[in-house]
Amino acid sequence: MSKPLDQSRMDKIVSLAKRRGFIFPSSEIYGGLNGFWDYGPLGVALKRNLKDAWWHDMVAGHDELAAPAGAPAPYEMAGLDCTIIMHPQVWKCSGHFDLFHDWMIDCRESKRRYRYDHLTGRWAAHRDKRTFVTTDASGDDVPAELAARAQKFFGLRAKQVDEIAWEGEPTPLPAAVAAGVTLADSLGPDASAPGSLTAPREFNLMFETRIGAVAGGDDDRAFLRPETAQGIFVNFKNVLDTSRVRVPFGICQIGKSFRNEITPRNFTFRSREFEQMEIEFFCRPADSAAWYRYWRDRRWRWYLDLGLTASRLRLREHDRDELSHYSCGTADIEYAFPFLAAGEFGELEGIAHRGDFDLRSHMEGKLVRRDGDLVVETGADGKPRHRGSGKDLSYFDDVSRERYVPHVIEPSAGADRAVLAFLCDAYHEDEVPDEDGKPRSRTVMKLHPRLAPVKAAILPLVKKDGMPELAGELYRSLKRQMTCQYDEKGSVGRRYARQDEAGTPWCLTVDGQSLADRTLTLRDRDSLVQERVPLDEVPGLLRDRLT
Ligand code: GAP
Repeated sequence: MSKPLDQSRMDKIVSLAKRRGFIFPSSEIYGGLNGFWDYGPLGVALKRNLKDAWWHDMVAGHDELAAPAGAPAPYEMAGLDCTIIMHPQVWKCSGHFDLFHDWMIDCRESKRRYRYDHLTGRWAAHRDKRTFVTTDASGDDVPAELAARAQKFFGLRAKQVDEIAWEGEPTPLPAAVAAGVTLADSLGPDASAPGSLTAPREFNLMFETRIGAVAGGDDDRAFLRPETAQGIFVNFKNVLDTSRVRVPFGICQIGKSFRNEITPRNFTFRSREFEQMEIEFFCRPADSAAWYRYWRDRRWRWYLDLGLTASRLRLREHDRDELSHYSCGTADIEYAFPFLAAGEFGELEGIAHRGDFDLRSHMEGKLVRRDGDLVVETGADGKPRHRGSGKDLSYFDDVSRERYVPHVIEPSAGADRAVLAFLCDAYHEDEVPDEDGKPRSRTVMKLHPRLAPVKAAILPLVKKDGMPELAGELYRSLKRQMTCQYDEKGSVGRRYARQDEAGTPWCLTVDGQSLADRTLTLRDRDSLVQERVPLDEVPGLLRDRLT
């Protein structure tokens, strides 16, 4: 593993997430389950707010009458909710059945499993010993990690490291093996002697299950979806035939996806069960490049508008040679997570121009690239390897009078990765004056008010003199409009601290003056400014600040 940018910050975030009920390891009382996570009371509210914000901004709140800034034309958006288990042919035609795999490699000694393509190695020799040292570190950390592994293997002290003779440059293990390095000579990343790595094996990332009571044959074999996108493609015609939408339009879905990741890691970043928020946007082939640019920029702005720090975000356009030949662009929106090495970014969302690949696959059968064209892949008998539905998924444009298979722009986001980025970004430590004016250190989650699990806390200064009654009155009227909490336990300073850690943007304190003139103090989490506001105006005031 590479050295993280700020491991201690990450450790504090993971600890706060557990302590305050944002995220728990799944099945924790049985020791947890690698790659699976549960959302606690605050976490579920944060994740729901994030998904609601996406659904509102992309679908429900979309204005179909006017082209938004940067859009080539007005467009429509529709929603969908498909099943997790779909007809197995879906995954055969989409390519997931044949191609959605990673190569894995096991270490017989350490019992650890690695992604084959994540290992890097280099020949090292000392006196009469020579081995191909490997590491699963990445980026700039590789040379130092290889040196540390070799030092340990040869039993050297730090000052003897220069005695190691290195041959060649650090090379990805698959390339080294292709060039003649044997696994028998390779020292696994966590092994004490060479020869413990097994031969690489292909591993399909789809979770398999069986449908119905009779298990055994190939007919009842099914898969948990590894992406929500395919449910949208196979319902393209249903949506078109049953709603008013005309091209250009998008179909959106939020839902669970499952991938049997070989090495789930970095808290929720690479999980085996996670949620995606995907849009498949269908457009005229001639307009697709302009729509691609629109969606790339629109999705980038969404993260900024919800408060992610611009300097920690990166929009990375894929190089031309990384693109499928039918694609005129793919970009990733990436975030500098604190568990990554300096200069590294992790993907939050991909925006891909997919051409007509998906709709054609489900019409004609699994496609492959041949001489620059997409053609149906055939078996030795000349028949399609995976037969498509045979349904016509082309579109007749009644304005231009043309028939075509729409091109697709796909902004595909991970809800859990976004929650993790917002949690990491929100985490702050600062100093605030306590009730006696002395500086007190605090941990505060500076979440955007739209995402904050609790919008406001209502705090009677003391538990007597009619303050709880007045605070309760406000709590009941505010609760109808937004998530709020009533808290009368402990000093007001401790109550502020609790709400700061939960990311609550506003605290409303009912005090002696409130009883006389129905005003209260409104404390802002970030600026710490306290204003005196009429109690009856609070719901309207906060509603305005939330939008
Ligand atoms: N339909 C396209 C698609 O699924 P992807 O890049 O494989 O593309 C899209 O996934 C998004 O889903 C990623 O950008 C990421 O946010 C999220 N995602 C993918 N694998 C994940 C995993 N193992 N754990 C958490 N989120 C994941």
